[in-house]
Amino acid sequence: MVKSFRIVREEETALLVEKIRSASVVNLSDMLLSLTNNVLCRVAMGRKYWEGDASNEEGVLEKVAREFDEFIEAVVAEHIDRKRRECNNGRGSGEKEVNDFLDVLLELQSDDRAGFPIHRDTIKALTLDMFAAGTDTIFTVLEWTMAELLKHTEFMKKLQKEVRDVGRGKRYIAEDDLEKMHYLKAVIKESPRLHTPAIARDPSSWEDPEEFRPERFLNSSIDFKGKGFEFIPFGAGRRGCPGIVFAVNVIELALANIVYRFDFCLPDGARLEDLDTMSERTGTTIHKKNPLIVLAAEHL
Ligand code: HEM
Repeated sequence: MVKSFRIVREEETALLVEKIRSASVVNLSDMLLSLTNNVLCRVAMGRKYWEGDASNEEGVLEKVAREFDEFIEAVVAEHIDRKRRECNNGRGSGEKEVNDFLDVLLELQSDDRAGFPIHRDTIKALTLDMFAAGTDTIFTVLEWTMAELLKHTEFMKKLQKEVRDVGRGKRYIAEDDLEKMHYLKAVIKESPRLHTPAIARDPSSWEDPEEFRPERFLNSSIDFKGKGFEFIPFGAGRRGCPGIVFAVNVIELALANIVYRFDFCLPDGARLEDLDTMSERTGTTIHKKNPLIVLAAEHL
């Protein structure tokens, strides 16, 4: 199913590139959050439900829970209604080509394949879980990665050279191009190694553990699956993250396209090497404390 959502990732990444192109000063943090919100919304629930900036509103737990419940309830009702219309009109006449996650759960519920009853509350909880588990996490990795690359221009240039050599002449990088980008993959490992809530800065496992150095993952067999406990950004074992392949696809495609199409600098003449990549906000995921505000020039 991860493959079937390739079109969603490519369309939303292209929209992100156009948004960056048309902004004079780019709030990259907001835009990356919007990207992950929109991708996860379309994958979990079939379409985008809200656009633009994340809401900063604080609310009491009950109010938030009720609002989420009303929202998901409406999405479930919309899906059931569409399925009913498809049944009446015959399959194949439906508007959608790819089943989203909620469609799959509703099918499991209706044909008893699971072997146990699946209640509506369970379906609502799983859909929300998928959305919550994927959005903030992917956004956080993208934001930290861009911050580190901006600060370390030598790594940014190396990555841009790789991506631009592979993409030469194309308007957008496609998912098929990513396999050839070995440095991109090293960058995307180094970022969650350095900015992870877990143990990935242990000096007994890593040389210069506090340094951002993607090279450490070149010619290395360490992957995201958590086999070696020195590197477990997605957890490990039977409760390890089931979203690894999906998340890595979103991150690689977004990052490749951003660095392919743009060169960056900071507003008000601030120096890239002074960019703060240390200050963190506490929370379930550890965000950058301050948003990433940049100027982007299109690379011709
Ligand atoms: C960069 C992005 C992501 C990171 C860093 C991440 C990280 C994690 C971590 C550390 C865990 C806990 C593993 C453990 O307890 O050992 C986890 C669990 C989980 N993740 Fe992810 N995740 C990401 C993206 C996603 C996506 C895209 C999805 C789904 C679309 C997802 C769905 C889940 C679910 C359902 C669990 C719970 C698994 C269980 O308890 O059995 N995650 N993730």
